[in-house]
Amino acid sequence: MKLITAIIRPERVQQVKEALFQAGISGLTLSRVSGHGGEQELVEHYRGTRVMVEFRDKVEVRMAVSEPFVDAAIQAICSAARTGEVGDGKIFVQPLERVVRIRTGEENNAALTPVTETKLVPV
Ligand SMILES: Nc1ncnc2c1ncn2[C@@H]1O[C@H](COP(=O)(O)OP(=O)(O)OP(=O)(O)O)[C@@H](O)[C@H]1O
Ligand SMILES: [Mg+2]
Repeated sequence: MKLITAIIRPERVQQVKEALFQAGISGLTLSRVSGHGGEQELVEHYRGTRVMVEFRDKVEVRMAVSEPFVDAAIQAICSAARTGEVGDGKIFVQPLERVVRIRTGEENNAALTPVTETKLVPV
């Protein structure tokens, strides 16, 4: 199991969500974040040069997936989030030790399998 964290442009959230859903990934968490990609904007002053760090609005998408879904998730995010311009974002993949579905107590891959019963209404 892996925890995939993607930092993307806010205007690409809908496309990324749809691409992930197509890839079979529907459990995810979105957060609005501010980020900086490492580039340094130089501002000239009459007494010297100052380095500015500008934070930009980004969206963080986090999803826990079982191993067979890792590459599909990365591909889906890249193709839906890429514009080719700097600032398209980044994907971090971390090992995930344990997942528990609170309602059932199911763990790990069983807890990551999407719930398909139609009687369950998401809240
Ligand atoms: N090393 C990092 N650690 C944590 N967050 C990062 C890191 N690099 C980028 N981010 C996050 O990703 C966002 C987008 O980064 P960005 O796309 O500018 O990365 P980049 O490596 O500079 O790539 P590019 O050259 O395409 O701009 C940043 O605003 C920040 O939130
Ligand atoms: Mg950048």
